[in-house]
Parts: sequence; C-alpha cells; structure tokens
Amino acid sequence: MTGSYEIIDHEFDVVVVGGGGAGLRAGLGCAEKGLKTAIISKVFPTRSHTVAAQGGISAALGNMGEDDWRFHMYDTIKGSDWLGDQDAIEYMCREAIPAIIELEHYGVPFSRTAAGKIYQRAFGGMTTHYGKGTAQRTCAAADRTGHAILHTLYTQAVKHKAEFFIEYFVLDLIMNDDGECVGVTAWNLDDGTLHRFRGHQTILATGGYGRAFFSCTSAHTCTGDGNAMVLRAGLPLQDMEFVQFHPTGVYGAGCLITEGVRGEGGYLTNSEGERFMERYAPSAKDLASRDVVSRSMTIEIREGRGVGAESDHIHLHLEHLDPDIIHSRLPGIAETARVFSGVDVTKEPIPVLPTVHYNMGGIPTNFKTEVLSPTKKDPNAVVPGLMAIGEAACVSVHGANRLGSNSLLDLVVFGRAAAIRCTELVKPGSSHKALKGGDDQRGIDRLDHFRHADGSTRTADLRLQMQKNMQNHAAVFRTDEVLKEGCENMDKIYAGKEDLGVSDRTMVFNTDLVETLELDNLLYQAVATINSAYSRKESRGAHAHEDYPNRDDENWMKHSVVWVDAKGKHKLDGRPVVMTTLTDEVEPIPPKERVY
Ligand code: FUM
Repeated sequence: MTGSYEIIDHEFDVVVVGGGGAGLRAGLGCAEKGLKTAIISKVFPTRSHTVAAQGGISAALGNMGEDDWRFHMYDTIKGSDWLGDQDAIEYMCREAIPAIIELEHYGVPFSRTAAGKIYQRAFGGMTTHYGKGTAQRTCAAADRTGHAILHTLYTQAVKHKAEFFIEYFVLDLIMNDDGECVGVTAWNLDDGTLHRFRGHQTILATGGYGRAFFSCTSAHTCTGDGNAMVLRAGLPLQDMEFVQFHPTGVYGAGCLITEGVRGEGGYLTNSEGERFMERYAPSAKDLASRDVVSRSMTIEIREGRGVGAESDHIHLHLEHLDPDIIHSRLPGIAETARVFSGVDVTKEPIPVLPTVHYNMGGIPTNFKTEVLSPTKKDPNAVVPGLMAIGEAACVSVHGANRLGSNSLLDLVVFGRAAAIRCTELVKPGSSHKALKGGDDQRGIDRLDHFRHADGSTRTADLRLQMQKNMQNHAAVFRTDEVLKEGCENMDKIYAGKEDLGVSDRTMVFNTDLVETLELDNLLYQAVATINSAYSRKESRGAHAHEDYPNRDDENWMKHSVVWVDAKGKHKLDGRPVVMTTLTDEVEPIPPKERVY
C-alpha cells in the first residue's frame, strides 16, 4: 500500500448498492418499514440504466384480453429453455400483479386504454393458454417505461427517507472471518474521501456487464461491479454463458429499438424484401423469443440476404403503421431512429442488427434474494448478510433466455422481495459486530493499487481488446474452436491488467481511475463468461453451439457455477435447476421441444 487513507464510518440496517430500478425498489421498501437504509450509487439514481428500458413490464393483468399468471409462468419457463428455477418463476409471475398495481399507486404514469386501464402490448414469446394464443401482457408507458418507473421509485425512496450516497463508487464487500457480509467500502468521487458502510444486510443491485462486449445496448456504466465483488470475495457466479442479443439494436450505433415496435405490428425483412421470420417461427413470427429472432437474422445475413452496401444488417419496418400510433406509443424510438440512423420511421425501415442487451447470468440467489454459495453438500447454502437483485442476480427466472419485459418485472418483484426478507431478518437499530483488523482492507488496497498503476497500457486500449474478443468469440453462434481461442485470448488480456497505467493520481473525480476499476470488474466477468460458454457442450436458449446444435437435458440441464480468482484462473461446477413449484396452485412444467 502506497497511500494511507482516513476512512469515514457509517452504520445502517441495510446497505443497498446501486440506485437503479431494483436498488430503489428494495431501498424504498426497507425504508418504508423503518429500517435505516443507505442507497449507494455511482451515478445519479435517475441516470441508472433502468432509464433506458423502453417497451414495458410484464404482468398478467388481462386488461387487453384474457390472461392468467400461470400462462405467464409457462411462457417464462419455455422462454428460459428449461434452465429457469420454477419456484422463482412461479413467485415472479404471481407477484407481478400486486407489484404492478403497487407501481401504479406509487404514481407510475402508465399509458391507458380507452377504459382507463393500464395499456398492455404484445411482446415476444408471450402467449395465452400455454402457447395457443397471443398475450398482450406488457404494461407500457409509451416507449419510455423504464424512465417512468425509475423516476417514480426515486421520488418514493426520497419520500420514505432512504439516505442517498450519490456518485460513490463501491470498491468491495467487507466479509468477516465467519463468511458473513457486513458491509462495503466506497470512494466518494466528488471529494475523494473513503467510506466504510456497515449493514446487517447488503443488497447488490449493480446491474449487468454489457460493456464487456464491443456493441451493446447497455450504458457505459454497465460494468457488473457487484458481480466482480462477489468473485473477489471467493463466491461464484452462475450461468454466465447466457448473454442475450436483442434482435433490434440500431445498426452501427447499438442503441435499442424496442421489441414493442414488433408488438405494435412492425416486422423484419431481408434483402429480398421477405418477411423471413415466417420461415423460422411459423406461429409467433416476428414475436418469437429473442434468441430465436437473433439467430434467424444472423442466418439471413450469413447466407447473403442481409441489407445495405455490405449486406450485413436487416430492415425493421414501421412505415405501414398509423402515424398516430407511432406518435403516441413509440415516440422515443422514432427519435432514436432519426438521430442514430437518419431514418424517418413513417417513410423508411430502420437498419438493425442483433446487439448484446442482457445478462441472464449473475450472482446466484434463491427467490428470497439471498445470495447462494453452493457446495456439493448443500447447493442452496446462503451467504449471511448478502443479497442480490435485478440484472446483477441470477435468481434464476430467465434461465438460458429472458423474455422481453420480464426484466423490469424482475427488478420490481425481487426488489420488493429483498425488502420483505430484510424486514424478517433485521431488527431496526441493532448493533454491528466489531470488525477485525483487515476485514475491510481489500477494497482500500484495490483502489490504492490501481491509483498508483504506472504500466504502459492505457485502460481504454485493454478494454477494447477485451470487448473485441468477447464480441468475436462469444457471439450469437459459437463453436468449440472459436470459444477455445476466445478463452486463450482472455487469459492474455486478463494478464495485461498488470501493465495498466493510470494517468492521474488524484482522488477527486478521477475518471481514468474509475474506468480502470470498472475494467478490472469487467475482466473478471469476461473470463467467467467465455470459459462457461466453452464448457457447455450443448445448445440452449442464447447459447447456440454449432458443434452441439441440440439441447441435452440429460447432461446439461444444470446451472453452471463459476469462480474466478485474482489471477484470472477459473473453476467450474454445476447446480441443479429447481424443477418444483412453490405452491400446489400450479404444476411444474416438464421440459419439451421449444418451438414458436
Ligand atoms: O425491447 C425492449 O423494449 C426491451 C425490453 C426488455 O429488454 O425487457
């Protein structure tokens, strides 16, 4: 250690790391119940990536026709390609209904039907009667649903007096000798001070790690910081090979064009003007699940039927839709298409390409959001004091492929579940165990190490190497040869960390140091992802392995669990998928062929 640092102490009942949809929902729920709650966020909360969610949030409200949470549960299990835990999926789909009504009461300005009910649109893979009809299940606030939810939750958290620590970058978990999480260490970017937050429960709500890839719909802040903290604490991540490509990212820019466009009647064509999804998914067509649509688009491009000068993308059409519908339900994407591809959506198609969008994998938890540390003896062992929610977590409700609009739902339902669990586990105001010298040192040492890094590699250059490697070696389609090369490259790229040089030693708003700490976090997850992908010898959901084109339930219907140490060495294991339901109100859904 080259610097010596004064540390400012804080004591809370609950410490929430992350101020996006999941963190705010959990934080407000804890504060509402009288728990002294800190919400720590590296950006202003309403700038969190939830703000970018467009199309909506699913719940079987039945406002636009018949629906039932059991249909939603069936669709989600099928969408997950039978890798989702059925107890957690039952919980999410059932609790969706009260959770949305609660959001409405908090003040979310949902779009409305003529009868004044919450407007719901169709989304991919969502059906009625166990695959027979099309469900309109996605509750929308035009195409800015995440924005509406995030702002509402923020005001509710302020109202309930959660305490915000904004532009604080969390460095690491504080784990004691008994393997309990007792808080976090953090750096205040604004004034350079260091902080120790003690909490009886620490809730990680730090989002996904889309920025491990070159082209993604994720914000630059999506660096999976909580996932990396978990790995550094010697705990594993789960199902990291399952990375979702959203079918419609703007070609060249990567920005999201909501699936809600296809829900409102938009469709895809190839260079021959053919609506090719009819061949790949005769029943659901453009509203098949995302993995299916992204693969179909990739095949069209590979077989020479892509559009544009380089035949390397696909067209998304809305020009046949009534301009009033575009104006009232899709105003945001009309603007995005104009700004990022110069397209007037009322006259011409949007150029689109499958783009990294979501991480199904993350920190393993049970449906109560407690973090798991699976062992052979007990695959469901929990880590005392630690919870994870939202995209950071792998509950696992999305399994091998998430259905669109189940992500905002996951944030809200499991944010709420975390708050409920905290009220069961934490007595407000109870005292904290004394720390032993060194329990909290890891985070401080980490900051100090990178602050003084004086190698010759720029953070931006190493990050680009990692992003290109992940993009080229862990794409929509994968092979053993390409994945193996990707793993070997990642070993070298990870080792490049030792030669990083940080240009500036200041502690006040040192963005080079922030980006270096974020890159460190991304590197851990890139190693976890590519090695988990290389190890899974089957195709399931978003993991399309050309050497093993079929799903192999006999050998691979299991979660992959991966540890990565400080040297970038990984270890892999498996964990059984939960195939039982929580209640007898619904039967488990046995695996079958997945067609749309
Ligand atoms: O297409 C979208 O609006 C994205 C929604 C989601 O990822 O859930």
